[in-house]
Amino acid sequence: MMNGLVHAHSGLRWIVLALLVALVWQAWQKGRSGAEYTEADRKLNLYTLIAVHIQLLLGLALYFHSDKVNFDSSSWSVSVTRFFTLEHSLMMLIAIVLITIGYSKAKKAADSAARWRTTLRYNLIALLLILVAIPWPFRGFGSGWF
Ligand code: HEM
Repeated sequence: MMNGLVHAHSGLRWIVLALLVALVWQAWQKGRSGAEYTEADRKLNLYTLIAVHIQLLLGLALYFHSDKVNFDSSSWSVSVTRFFTLEHSLMMLIAIVLITIGYSKAKKAADSAARWRTTLRYNLIALLLILVAIPWPFRGFGSGWF
């Protein structure tokens, strides 16, 4: 059960990253060229939002079951424990909040230019945060590529 959750959470990262990169690229390109923000564009934003919210649910389930999470602060001298208890979870949470606010603000924005600007700003910051907070295998937290 735990193993399945870790793999689902780990694998979904690639879908989240692919959607976010596509969204940021699209917002940058179409914003620059003055293109209209269409219903199809809003859908890409929506799919990204749904993917990160599923990732949040999986992350929360892991948070309360993983042996890499420990609420006793004396165990935070172990970097893996501190990383998953605090750094990973908090940074990912902030990124997901930014993506959610960005979606809602873009929907309410007055015109296409403002929608592209909002989409680009919020999602670019979220993408950078996520890239920093992922336990890539080379960071030594014992996590894999999938
Ligand atoms: C876009 C958001 C997120 C991404 C891309 C992401 C990605 C990952 C990845 C790649 C791993 C390593 C899995 C492995 O060992 O192979 C991981 C582990 C973990 N994540 Fe996330 N995560 C996200 C959000 C969250 C959130 C919001 C939480 C908690 C509230 C969370 C809690 C955890 C925990 C506890 C682990 C360690 C699981 C274990 O090995 O026992 N994650 N995450």
